[in-house]
Amino acid sequence: MCGIVGYIGEQQAASILLDGLEKLEYRGYDSAGIAIYDGQKINVVKSKGRLKVLSELTHEGALLPGNLGVGHTRWATHGAPSDLNAHPHENKEETIAVVHNGIIENYIKLRGRLEEKGYSFISDTDTEVVAHLLDYYYKGDPLEAITKIIHRVEGSYALGIIFKEHPDEFYAVRKDSPLIAGHTEGGNIIASDVPAVLKYTRDVYFIENEEIARLRKDEISFFNGDGEPLKKQSKKIEWDVDAAEKGGYEHFMLKEMYEQPKAITDTLSPRLKDGKIDIEELNMSDEEIANIKKIMIVACGSAYHTGMTAKYVFEEMTRIPVEVDVASEFRYRNPIITDGTLVVVISQSGETADTLAALRESKEHGARVLGIVNVVGSSIAREADGVMYTWAGPEIAVATTKAYSAQLIALYLLAIKMGQARGLVSEEKILEMLEDLKRLPTQVEMLLENKKKIQKFANRYLAAEQIFFIGRGIDYAISQEGSLKLKEISYIHSEAYAAGELKHGTISLVEEGTLVVSVLTQESLYKKMISNMEEVRTRGAFVMAVTAEGNDEVEQAADYVIYIPKTNEYFMNSLAIIPLQLFAYEIAVGRGCDVDKPRNLAKSVTVE
Ligand code: F6R
Repeated sequence: MCGIVGYIGEQQAASILLDGLEKLEYRGYDSAGIAIYDGQKINVVKSKGRLKVLSELTHEGALLPGNLGVGHTRWATHGAPSDLNAHPHENKEETIAVVHNGIIENYIKLRGRLEEKGYSFISDTDTEVVAHLLDYYYKGDPLEAITKIIHRVEGSYALGIIFKEHPDEFYAVRKDSPLIAGHTEGGNIIASDVPAVLKYTRDVYFIENEEIARLRKDEISFFNGDGEPLKKQSKKIEWDVDAAEKGGYEHFMLKEMYEQPKAITDTLSPRLKDGKIDIEELNMSDEEIANIKKIMIVACGSAYHTGMTAKYVFEEMTRIPVEVDVASEFRYRNPIITDGTLVVVISQSGETADTLAALRESKEHGARVLGIVNVVGSSIAREADGVMYTWAGPEIAVATTKAYSAQLIALYLLAIKMGQARGLVSEEKILEMLEDLKRLPTQVEMLLENKKKIQKFANRYLAAEQIFFIGRGIDYAISQEGSLKLKEISYIHSEAYAAGELKHGTISLVEEGTLVVSVLTQESLYKKMISNMEEVRTRGAFVMAVTAEGNDEVEQAADYVIYIPKTNEYFMNSLAIIPLQLFAYEIAVGRGCDVDKPRNLAKSVTVE
């Protein structure tokens, strides 16, 4: 990840690449690089930091003459942000240069095989295997080499590739990571996203999964994964720059909500290997896991809510007692950290001041600290003893959605892995849970299709003064997150209550017409929840329930029901949150609130 631009034509490639990459800056990145063919060799310049640094290093591209090149802005996934890990990556002879968006899931296996064949690696990235693999299969025909590698590489990729021996063309191929191609005046261009090409063309070809594009100065040709020619129609892009940045969605928040299936897949599938969970960055042996006596989860905001969910999953899978703390409380409360305490800190940005302080405090007390972090190389990732990355990609909207969903997945995986290491979860149960996890992206996709229906319902509550969320157990955690989303972007006062607690005072605020959102995903708690719903209904509340399919009793006890598919009860949070996010979004938009406020580049919240 995160931005790709490639060009061949009459103009100087470097300035077109720098300009295109600048148009993708809004997506967030940590390093940038370009490779330009100068008529004799491929020259690569790359560096950590902003594009400005790359621009200065190349004198706005003037130091890299040439009419063919590929460029990249990187959001680190494998290996910290650094000059060396930045793209493009090359083979040893520097005759092949590659830029890549996505995650190569089997890169460790491929790397091992290539090392056995004598290849050596200089970066920590998954991308470098592609450069060496292409080198291995290249026997003079780039198309042949590309068709060979796409049958061997697993995961997601959008690739821009230059072969020094073919200076009149370059190649692009993709799977599960977007890539477009288009004609410019006197040349042709590829990009990962529309904003990078809008200045040159509005007619673009959307390259489909496992399709290959060959770009020459005056022609673009397409091939299928077996190298057979394809005919493709270009499509007209009607979006303005603002809409193009949001991929046609009305807001970044909505776009990121729709990116959740991918964030879940990217966080999940690289860790599933032959029916086992492999968390390579964890830095913890099974024996060390077996010796954990207490887990303390520390985070802020939505990340804290994923910790609340995780408590239930960890305790069930590992039978280790779990405490969950808000970081701003934990750091000042002199926590009891004893031998065998594992502290898990969760953070999208990896920079939240309280969470970072809690990490340091824990380390001072001798705890082992594990970070669940989205931003590779961030302070928390660097300072933790081990780290497990969520691969949600950069999050721009202020209200987290896809990072939250990715955090849940990371925590489920960690809990199952720990349960397995402690011999408490049978192999059969693990396989069953992994199958349930693999179904989540499609189920989330399906739930996102409820947008129109939820919009209609939300429109009834645009003038609400307060909205309550109730749930028990793990559903209380999801209620907290639903309530936070709502108040954060719609400015409606909202509270989340453990359903049984509402009657101890706060129920006095529930009056005729008050909306109470009730989350019920835990079958064993249905009866209790239904009686709580009846309580608020006797006060005149309108109850909207989010529950599992096939729950007829709830239908009786609620005024409006949103059904979610049934899956393992510990994973239901990942589904229940989707209608709650949509609800918060629709209310906020209906009230005219700016859901993308305040817009930062690749959100990195540092709150003191
Ligand atoms: C809510 C939200 C915040 C963050 C919190 C922690 O939508 O985004 O509550 O979850 O500020 O931030 P990170 O995860 O970056 O530590």
